Amino acid sequence: MTRPAPTALIPSSSACPLIRAATGAVVEPLAGAPFAEQPERIARRRLVLAASGLPLLALPGLAGATGSTALPLTPRQSEGPFYPQQSFFAARSDLDADLLQVTGSAALARGTPMALSGRVLNTRGEPVGGALVEIWQCDAGGTYLYTAQTLRQGDPGFQGFGRTVTDAQGRYAFRTLRPVPYGGRVPHVHVKVALTERDIRRDLLTTQVYLRGDDLSGDFVIRSAPAALRDRLIASVQTTAAEVRASWDIVVAI
Ligand SMILES: [Fe+2]
Repeated sequence: MTRPAPTALIPSSSACPLIRAATGAVVEPLAGAPFAEQPERIARRRLVLAASGLPLLALPGLAGATGSTALPLTPRQSEGPFYPQQSFFAARSDLDADLLQVTGSAALARGTPMALSGRVLNTRGEPVGGALVEIWQCDAGGTYLYTAQTLRQGDPGFQGFGRTVTDAQGRYAFRTLRPVPYGGRVPHVHVKVALTERDIRRDLLTTQVYLRGDDLSGDFVIRSAPAALRDRLIASVQTTAAEVRASWDIVVAI
C-alpha cells in the first residue's frame, strides 16, 4: 500500500485524562461536541473530487435511507484519549494501512484479522479523493498503542495506528484487527478523516466505527449519536474462514 505523503502532525487537541467509572472500568470521556453533526464547511476549491459513477441508491447501506438526494453525514464521535502522541510517532515509523505487520518486527499481530474498507463521500454522493484517513484501536489485549511506553507494553506485532489516502473513487482500505471490547466499551475502531494541502492538515471528521452484529445497546459513546444516525456508524460485516471483512462508507461535509 502506498504510504501517504508526509503530513504535519498536529497534537491531539482533545486528549484528556481518562475517566474512571464507578465500576473501576477505564472509559473514554466525551470530547468536544459529540452530539453535534458536522458543520458545513466551505472548502470546495481545495478538494479533489472525482465524478461518481454510482447511482445514489447503489451505495451500500444507503438505499431508502432518506427521501432526499442528500446523504446524511456520518456522525461525529469522541476522539478519546488514545490518539497517538508524539512519542509514539517518534518510536514508530511504520504508519501504513497494514496494521497487522510492523516493519522490522518478526512478531505477528495477535487477534482476528479484519479488512476494513469503503469510500469517503460528500453529501451529494461524490467520492472525495485525496482524503487522509487514519484509524487507531487497541490491540487484542485491550492496550492502546499511543505512546512510546504503551508500545513497549502492548502487542509488538500490532501497528496500533495506520493511515492511507483515498483514491480518485474515494476508496480506502486497511488491514487491521477485528476490534475487541475493553474498559466498558464495545468493539470499535477510531477514525479520523482530513484533507491535506501544502502539508497543512484540516480535520473533517473524527468518529468511531462499530460492527454490525455486535451488541451495541450498552455503549454510551454510540448512544451519544442521534438515534436516527447511529446506523451510519455501523459497518456491514462478512466473515470468511480467513478474516472479517467490514465495509463502511464515510460521508463528510464538503
Ligand atoms: Fe476507543
